[in-house]
Amino acid sequence: MFRFTAPPPLSLYIHFPWCIYKCPYCDFNSHAIREDLPETAYIDALLKDLEQELPAIWGRTVQTVFMGGGTPSLFSAQAIDRLLSGVRARLPLSPDAEITLEANPGTVEQEKFAGYRAAGVNRLSIGIQSLNELHLKTLERIHSAEESIHAAETARRAGFDDFNLDLMFGLPGQTATQSCDDLLAAIELRPTHLSWYQLTLEPNTRFYAQPPVLPDNDTLWDMHNRGHTQLAAHDYTQYEVSAFAKAGRQCRHNLNYWRFGDYIGIGAGAHGKITDAGHGVVVRRSKQRHPQAYLENAGNDRCIAGQRNLTEAEIVFEFALNRLRLKQGFDLYEFETRCGLPGSRILPILQQASNDDLLLLDGSQVRHTDRGWRFLNDLLERFLPEETQHAGNNPD
Ligand SMILES: C[S@@+](CC[C@H](N)C(=O)[O-])C[C@H]1O[C@@H](n2cnc3c(N)ncnc32)[C@H](O)[C@@H]1O
Ligand code: SF4
Repeated sequence: MFRFTAPPPLSLYIHFPWCIYKCPYCDFNSHAIREDLPETAYIDALLKDLEQELPAIWGRTVQTVFMGGGTPSLFSAQAIDRLLSGVRARLPLSPDAEITLEANPGTVEQEKFAGYRAAGVNRLSIGIQSLNELHLKTLERIHSAEESIHAAETARRAGFDDFNLDLMFGLPGQTATQSCDDLLAAIELRPTHLSWYQLTLEPNTRFYAQPPVLPDNDTLWDMHNRGHTQLAAHDYTQYEVSAFAKAGRQCRHNLNYWRFGDYIGIGAGAHGKITDAGHGVVVRRSKQRHPQAYLENAGNDRCIAGQRNLTEAEIVFEFALNRLRLKQGFDLYEFETRCGLPGSRILPILQQASNDDLLLLDGSQVRHTDRGWRFLNDLLERFLPEETQHAGNNPD
């Protein structure tokens, strides 16, 4: 049993499992739509799913909502409006809640974006990936660079002064100059937030089965360094491994994940993490992944694919895994309130990491050294139970 003085802030994640086309690099729970989108049935299912979650969070206020996918922007503004009204009717949503919706540039209409805004969505996250036609083709994206530019302009016209662009680098055949040009072109669209990911080959994707030729490590390092310089020069501050924001425009929803906050997950394959302060446990729960199985079972126990209480070792590792992704350091008190454990539980690990110049320990304050940031995976591995750590993982 863990000792919590109070549960952490609460978020709501809503998953939409359909896309027009399955991208060859994507391992998210997303499926190409073959028939008509079951819009009404899916919103009904989400609301039933939410109702089943309510006993775990009575009395708590939701601070942020994130509609992710898949491609939530396949859904009409009316459907999103019904969903958000249903959410508000079922639980307390903070009046200043951040409400984000992910959009694909191939699914953009002015009227739809304006409708999302009217429904209460106040932040968009647009997946542009690249603004180079050649690379968009290699990634088999369904949209052109022009459509991405149009999507950003449409977002602004619809009243979204806060929007994120997702961009990737390290694309097949990409040079460092092309990745810089891409970043600069994205910056010119004046997003308040940029998520800048290095393309990775994920198991169970077509790119994994038939790997394209990716840039070599020297080129990737060059892209990384030039990209960081460019982002900083345009006042985008890095606050997480892949997240850059203008002042005050960090994504509050993702920040809550990284600070080991709580979240309810509804929708096909969604995960949640809830602190039950009264019983001193942290519960992780996931839903049926397959959209059809989810639609058939939402709201009843068969919809829950897995549920269990986290062990102490898992809580410690998950806290580190999330919290150390953020550039900002943390206080041991934060560890204690989020994990329900005494700071002394991780002190020996922190001290050893400090001796190895990976962390700086100043009283109860903990932050990365430059070396700790650079060798983040090695730092994180130290928080795994000893029997699962790799031998010889010192960054030296
Ligand atoms: C869940 S996707 C949703 C975005 C939206 N469906 C779209 O693609 O337009 C979130 C983001 O993760 C990034 N992403 C997906 N697969 C990736 C991979 N294999 N490597 C790096 N980033 C990836 C992409 O930038 C993508 O926009
Ligand atoms: S559109 Fe987005 S979620 Fe859908 S397959 Fe492509 S990357 Fe994945």
